[in-house]
Amino acid sequence: MILVTGATGTVGRLTLERLPADCAVRVLARDPSRVAVPRKGVEVVRADYRDPASLGKALRGVHRALLVTSRVGGDDDVVFLRAARRAGVRRVTKLSAAAVVDVRAQDLITRWQRDCEAALTSSGLEWTLLRPRAFMSNVLSWASSVRTKSLVRGLYGHAPNACVHPRDIAEGGGGAPPPPRPPPGRQHP
Ligand SMILES: NC(=O)c1ccc[n+]([C@@H]2O[C@H](COP(=O)([O-])OP(=O)(O)OC[C@H]3O[C@@H](n4cnc5c(N)ncnc54)[C@H](OP(=O)(O)O)[C@@H]3O)[C@@H](O)[C@H]2O)c1
Repeated sequence: MILVTGATGTVGRLTLERLPADCAVRVLARDPSRVAVPRKGVEVVRADYRDPASLGKALRGVHRALLVTSRVGGDDDVVFLRAARRAGVRRVTKLSAAAVVDVRAQDLITRWQRDCEAALTSSGLEWTLLRPRAFMSNVLSWASSVRTKSLVRGLYGHAPNACVHPRDIAEGGGGAPPPPRPPPGRQHP
């Protein structure tokens, strides 16, 4: 059984859509009514990192989990991992961030993600870390200024940033790769 967290969010939702049909899947969500269930057989369990008692039920019988947390500075990873170990989960794949390996990055989010990664890698569980840079979907926030002023605003005008499509992260998170594309120029014979 694979557990998906963050399924109402960007990467968790896309991962859920990509898991193979023959794999048993459970979703952990604070509000199950907000989960877009992609197919029959996907179970949704109400649970909340802030309510450790709720995690045991969501983790029962789970052998792999995708862990998405977003409360910067919080201990959601620690709480989840404690419950996962107790439930006998074998491997946790955590959505982290590329900046953790940049020693010059000392912002709040990066320091928090480093602590979360350490909690996982020292947990005794098998682990996988996904370390994307900024999501390509973030640039949708530029839409209005592009439309109205032909202008893009960024914090640092000259900082290069290799954005990644959340779909590509989701494929790393356990989803199946997309079907191969036909060669260019041959889509419409
Ligand atoms: N955005 C970027 O450019 C970027 C780049 C690199 C790394 N990251 C990392 O990516 C992660 C965020 O991923 P995302 O953007 O896919 O997520 P997201 O869209 O922000 O969604 C967060 C998910 O976590 C769930 N959640 C929040 N608190 C919860 C709780 N107490 N119990 C259970 N579920 C809870 C939310 O559920 P509800 O619907 O109930 O709120 C939602 O499904 C962060 O760790 C961030 O540091 C982001």
